[in-house]
Amino acid sequence: MPDTADSALLELDCVTKRFGKVVVADGLSLTVGPGDIVGIVGPNGAGKTSLFGLIAGDLEPGSGEIRFGGTQVTRLDAAARCKLGIGRTFQVPRPFGGMTVFENTLVAAQQGGGLRGRSSHAYAAQVLERTGLDRDANVPAGRLGLLQRKRLELARALATQPRLLLLDEVAGGLTDPEVAELVEIVRATRAEGVAVVWIEHVVRALTAAVERLICLAAGKFVGDGKPAEVLANPAVREVFLGAEVTTSLAAGSIVPGGTSGQIPAVPGDAPAAPDG
Ligand SMILES: Nc1ncnc2c1ncn2[C@@H]1O[C@H](COP(=O)(O)OP(=O)(O)OP(=O)(O)O)[C@@H](O)[C@H]1O
Ligand SMILES: [Mg+2]
Repeated sequence: MPDTADSALLELDCVTKRFGKVVVADGLSLTVGPGDIVGIVGPNGAGKTSLFGLIAGDLEPGSGEIRFGGTQVTRLDAAARCKLGIGRTFQVPRPFGGMTVFENTLVAAQQGGGLRGRSSHAYAAQVLERTGLDRDANVPAGRLGLLQRKRLELARALATQPRLLLLDEVAGGLTDPEVAELVEIVRATRAEGVAVVWIEHVVRALTAAVERLICLAAGKFVGDGKPAEVLANPAVREVFLGAEVTTSLAAGSIVPGGTSGQIPAVPGDAPAAPDG
C-alpha cells in the first residue's frame, strides 16, 4: 500500500525481541508521522539501540510487525530499508577506516541515496559542509577522533537521503556550543520534512530539539508525550532520572539547574555499550 500524506511514516505493532532471557523489546507499539521529531531516553541496557536495530533491519523481531511508509518491512534487510528511506547513525561509529571522509559519505549517497555520478559527488560535498566536516573531507576516516567520527555517522546517514533519520547518541561528549550546532543541524533536517527519532543521554540536547519524548526501560515504553511532562512523570523519574534532577528540567529548561550548561546526573551519561 503506498503511503499518503496523512498516513504514519513508521509503525511498530507489538514488536518483541529477546536475547536469551533479556527482553529488549516487550510488545512495543509506536507510530511516527512524516516530519515528526521524537526523543528517546532510558537507562543503559534499556533496549534503545536494539529498537533502532529492529527499525533499521539489523535485528529481526521475534514477533510483531514493522511498517514504513505503509510498506511491510519486518523481514527486509537493512540495505533494503535504507533504500526505502530509513537512515541511522551507530552509537559506536562504523566508518570505512581506510577511506576518506568524502569517500565514506559518497558511498552512502550512492548506495543508500541512489545518486550517481556528479550529483552524488555534489550531494556528498553538500552534506559534509552541513555537518561541519568539509575541512576533513580528504582525511582517512580511521584517523578521525571520536567527535569527528560521530559527525561522520551523521553525514553518512544524511547522505542516504532518509525520510526517517535515527540518531543514536550523537551528542555524547560534545561541548555546549557543539550541542547547539548539532541541534541546529537536526532542526534544519527536520525542516526539510525528514522525521527524526533521536536516542540521547544528553537530555538538554533533546529538550532543545524534540516535541515528543519517550522513555524506554527494560524493553517497555514508560512515558510518551511532551518532553516536560514525560520528564516530570514519576514512573520515568524512577527508572531514568533518579532524584537529582531539578524541577527546572521537568519544567522544560534547556539547561537544567541553571546557566552553567552542566547536565543533570542522569544515569549512564557516558555509555560505552556496544551496538545491539
Ligand atoms: N546482539 C546482542 N546479543 C545479545 N545481547 C544483546 C545484543 N545487543 C544488545 N544486547 C543486550 O540487550 C540489552 C539492551 O541493549 P541495548 O544496546 O539495546 O541498550 P541501550 O538502551 O541502547 O543501552 P545504552 O544506553 O547503554 O546504549 C543489553 O542488556 C545488551 O547487553
Ligand atoms: Mg544504546
